[in-house]
Amino acid sequence: KVGDSTNIKWHEGSVDASTREKALNQKGCVLWFTGLSGSGKSTVAYTLEHALFQRGKIAQVLDGDNIRHGLNSNLGFSAADREENIRRIGEVGKLFADSGMITLISFISPYRADRQKVRERVGDGKFVEVYMKIPLAVCEERDPKGLYKAARAGKIKGFTGIDDPYEEPLNAEIVMEVAKEGGDGTLAPPEKMAAAIIDVL
Ligand code: PPS
Repeated sequence: KVGDSTNIKWHEGSVDASTREKALNQKGCVLWFTGLSGSGKSTVAYTLEHALFQRGKIAQVLDGDNIRHGLNSNLGFSAADREENIRRIGEVGKLFADSGMITLISFISPYRADRQKVRERVGDGKFVEVYMKIPLAVCEERDPKGLYKAARAGKIKGFTGIDDPYEEPLNAEIVMEVAKEGGDGTLAPPEKMAAAIIDVL
């Protein structure tokens, strides 16, 4: 039984994921960027995408803000909608990874259980969690879109970190920290963070 239907059959093609990976000369995977709004997820993901291309690797960023303009345009920020947001992009990430793509997914993804479900769905060896561990105070100070200000003023309800939870990863493969990366409470340049991630990969 698949989803709501009992009349759907799984088709297996003769070209599998590893055949595609050989043709592309790279391993498909999901790099999952999680962290507060303003923690630099998207900036680092796009910088990493560029750095990977410079090394001859094919990568694709799937970014929360962008995906919410299309595939997930019917979803808001309730707990149920965030869960569905992450479930869908997790499925898309799996499809991309199976097609041999280095897939950089950048969503707040505030709930641990949802991220764990994606990890299991993609497969542990192909899922790399990157935690942008930037303190709320730093994100709020940066406030690149003015959303924290609006949330503090009560103009946005249920904003992550203000009046909605963010559950920190407990076992992220890669942790980006202000103290480690910037040294002095400032954020390291995205190029430095991207290079650090490539080193780990
Ligand atoms: S989630 O929690 O994973 O479903 O969120 P995501 O799809 O990554 O979308 C986060 C971006 O939406 C903007 N935004 C909000 N974020 C958090 N809480 C609330 N209520 C909210 N409303 C709008 C915000 O610009 C987030 O972008 P980033 O890039 O993370 O700053």
